Amino acid sequence: MSGALSPIDTAKFVAAKRAVEFVEDGMKVGLGTGSTAAWMVRCLAELVHDDGLKVVGVPTSTRTADLAQKLGLKTATLDEAKWLDLTIDGADEFDPDLNLIKGGGGALLQEKIVATASDRMIVITDASKKVERLGAYPLPVEVVPFGWQTSKALIEETLGGLDVLGDNVTLRLNGDAPFVTDEGNFIVDLHLHRIANPRQITLILNQIPGVVENGLFIDICDVVVIGHGDGRVEVNDINSGTHEEDRIEFSESDNMFSDLSD
Ligand code: A5P
Repeated sequence: MSGALSPIDTAKFVAAKRAVEFVEDGMKVGLGTGSTAAWMVRCLAELVHDDGLKVVGVPTSTRTADLAQKLGLKTATLDEAKWLDLTIDGADEFDPDLNLIKGGGGALLQEKIVATASDRMIVITDASKKVERLGAYPLPVEVVPFGWQTSKALIEETLGGLDVLGDNVTLRLNGDAPFVTDEGNFIVDLHLHRIANPRQITLILNQIPGVVENGLFIDICDVVVIGHGDGRVEVNDINSGTHEEDRIEFSESDNMFSDLSD
């Protein structure tokens, strides 16, 4: 049933396939970044080409914009679209309140702006991203290059007064050079291990000079779609409190985009 897809890709694919069922004709849709979001862009393109669905996508990174354009999706900038019906994106971690850590792919700034400018945010993920408490995944923080070492030192100093288990802060690298975001900034990753109060940390981090944004998404996500390697999907809606289970049937020919990298 799952064709040539690995269990992890099956999980991502079925989550993406279920999530695009939320997209209605005429919607403006935020297009997330990452390997799971790339599946969603492919599933959306399939609906556009096969079913004539009319949508405008607002990509959250140059990577996603390139993929959307390659697949023939109509895209717009956020300033052109202004407000979106829906954003579908991946996550690095989500907790029972659907608070998230994002930014593993380095696109957290555009992702947070786009998700916040949407009526609804749906996160698509495999089950491994589910945690009781956020923080095992390093928290990305985007900082401006000017004086980044000072910003990093201020972050480290601030962490001393917060309820976290770790305080190691590392500059994200791309080879030997700093990783540079689409906005021309750097990212530092905070190895906190356990975040007791995500709401407090997000506010405090964003007050530090040089910090542009952090990867905590608090009260932004409405629905999480969790895919499994056997084709099952769970849909949890935090607003209605509902939990649905479903199974996505698909054949090997559904893996038509396997030649595309995200
Ligand atoms: C990109 O910056 C991230 O926020 C991604 O959404 C997140 O890292 C999930 O990526 P994967 O779907 O590749 O795990």
